[in-house]
Amino acid sequence: MHITHNIPTRKEIEHLGVYVPGKPIEEVKRELGLERIAKLASNENPYGCSDLATQAMIREVGKASLYPEGTAPDLVEKLGAKLGVSKESIIVGNGSDEIIRLLTRSYISAGDEAIMADVTFPRYETNVQIEGGVPITVPLTNGVHDLASMLSRITSATKMIFICNPNNPTGTIVAAQELLSFIEQVPSHILVVIDEAYYEYVTDKTYLHTIPLLAKHSNLIILRTFSKIYGLAALRIGYGVMHPTIVQALIKVKEPFNTNRLAQAAAVASLEDESFAVQCAQRNEAGRTFLQAELAKLGLACYPSQANFLMVKLGEGRQGHDLFQALLAHGVIVRSGNLLGYADTIRVSIGTEQENEQFIHALQDIWG
Ligand SMILES: Cc1ncc(COP(=O)(O)O)c(C=O)c1O
Repeated sequence: MHITHNIPTRKEIEHLGVYVPGKPIEEVKRELGLERIAKLASNENPYGCSDLATQAMIREVGKASLYPEGTAPDLVEKLGAKLGVSKESIIVGNGSDEIIRLLTRSYISAGDEAIMADVTFPRYETNVQIEGGVPITVPLTNGVHDLASMLSRITSATKMIFICNPNNPTGTIVAAQELLSFIEQVPSHILVVIDEAYYEYVTDKTYLHTIPLLAKHSNLIILRTFSKIYGLAALRIGYGVMHPTIVQALIKVKEPFNTNRLAQAAAVASLEDESFAVQCAQRNEAGRTFLQAELAKLGLACYPSQANFLMVKLGEGRQGHDLFQALLAHGVIVRSGNLLGYADTIRVSIGTEQENEQFIHALQDIWG
């Protein structure tokens, strides 16, 4: 039976698009009947997670009938000790995605402006729009945040500024001195959200470490996640570090049991196995160097990435979507730049040695 439905949604979400995730491996297997798939589309950790995290999840599974502790106290304690900040300045979320949502939920009212790069992680814009806020987008310069222009866009309506460092999808970082000077110039009533989802992959020694700046800047918010280097993307767990007053505001709007038991236990255990993260970062750097060199041999340049992915420039007349389709037929899933704001690019996550080679061989085959 077909019945009609005509109850309007809030006007703020009427024209919102739906987030398009990387194509799942299972879907490609089903559609193309391929067995060996390299999914290099969602910046996941190709080495999985620490064994300690797996064991912790198995131990915790028997308690699935009990609600978790909503504040994740063990994890907060461990993070506080690791980062050298008070427990009161940390909030754990259902992925750092949730912290972005809690921030806009708590601080953005209709008409408030939030400044962000164009192009950057799309959840900033979407969440601002959901609250009726106005995203102010500032084009990247050669793939890098243009901090001077972002500063110049501050008005009396500005409430929040997002800096994604390294930036997704370009992988670039902003120069330390510039970022420091930017943070110092933003008026203290405007929140500066620095999203460091890919922090642990950065190898550039000049990268600005922002945690110590929290002692001086009460408007600074730093986001990190267990989805990337710790390999726990499916569990949905990330965190934010900020002034305790902001944490209290976010707690008011968060679901009481936002992170689950398995995620909390696995995240705690991951912090006890930092050697896993260090190894992943080293292997990522080797993969990044390998891919950059092989792509250069094919005449392809990338933005200078400090993350676990590369944005590859395909050159005049080539469409990311076409290459995405061609690679799919070779069992390699990447992200088409058409979905990311740069139609003549693809974004490829750095995989295992074998996956990286599969990607390069597929490219050679397609263009050879
Ligand atoms: C820049 C950035 N921030 C935040 C996230 C969200 O991560 P999660 O919600 O898995 O912690 C991602 C995920 O890809 C990201 O790229």
